Amino acid sequence: MTMMPSLLSAALLLSLLPWTLTEAPPMIPIAIMVKNTLQNKPLQTYKTEVISGGILLGAMKRLSDSDADFKFTYSDNDNYGPYLESVNGVAGNNEARTYWQLLANVTNSEFKPTEVGIGCIIPSPHQQIILNFTVW
Ligand SMILES: *[C@@H]1O[C@H](CO)[C@@H](O)[C@H](O)[C@H]1NC(C)=O
Ligand SMILES: *[C@@H]1O[C@H](CO)[C@@H](O)[C@H](O)[C@H]1NC(C)=O
Repeated sequence: MTMMPSLLSAALLLSLLPWTLTEAPPMIPIAIMVKNTLQNKPLQTYKTEVISGGILLGAMKRLSDSDADFKFTYSDNDNYGPYLESVNGVAGNNEARTYWQLLANVTNSEFKPTEVGIGCIIPSPHQQIILNFTVW
């Protein structure tokens, strides 16, 4: 009976971080699409991977490390966390009221704006994330 608390916490840790005992964390495939119809740019689709249960920002950093065509910058906001500022050299602008909107597919074909930013989005397997340059 005195073993129970430690058994429970070990089980909890395993269920939260199932890869802690293995070498490489499991990766899940996702797609990141860069859409900029405002400036008549062609849609770009990048296939990448995110650690299972990990955040979109990690996948974006991995992608920019491996693909020189994909670049982004972000700022750290104390209240909202990492805020996406520019993608592939195009930055949102307060005067033009432009920004990078985040959308993710919630069914095979329906996309919805994410309620949260790149530091909080946890993509699901094969999810398609659209970075959409738009106006507010
Ligand atoms: C998003 O679309 C992909 C490709 O159609 C699909 O595999 C994935 O299950 C979809 N995600 C959700 C949450 O429906
Ligand atoms: C993306 O931005 C364009 C340009 O503002 C807008 O017309 C469109 O509705 C936005 N959303 C999607 C999913 O393309």
